[in-house]
Amino acid sequence: LLYLASDHAGYDLKEKLKKFLTKSKISFKDLGTNSKNVVDYPDYAKKLIKNIKKNDKGILICGTGTGMVIAANRSKKIRAAGIYDNYTAKMARHDNDANVICLRGRKFSSNKNLKLVKIFLNSKFSNIHRHKKRIKKLS
Ligand code: RB5
Repeated sequence: LLYLASDHAGYDLKEKLKKFLTKSKISFKDLGTNSKNVVDYPDYAKKLIKNIKKNDKGILICGTGTGMVIAANRSKKIRAAGIYDNYTAKMARHDNDANVICLRGRKFSSNKNLKLVKIFLNSKFSNIHRHKKRIKKLS
């Protein structure tokens, strides 16, 4: 399953992303936040950490993406990547087998972010030995 969570700065993008996923018939679970009221991003990263299981994926959104990257990577279950262009969106899967991406809700257009999400969801881990070895070294 694909989990989504954001703080207030990511709320608008999360709502647009939900419309896109529904249209594309991709199942997801929204873990909040549910309005633009100010909240703290670590609380929403924690909700994702609590829910995510092997083979699930996640998308976290805050203003810059950075707070969510820091918070999500505190869990050993998660390899979260901040993605900001087509290349990083693809390579997060290909090299790092990232199961979570963190988007910036501010300053990037929603169209750009949706494109990055599509690339992430359509990219696969390379399964190459040297990448597996490096990922193993993380834990
Ligand atoms: C909230 O204003 C902002 O600090 C937060 O969304 C995020 O960008 C933190 O990394």
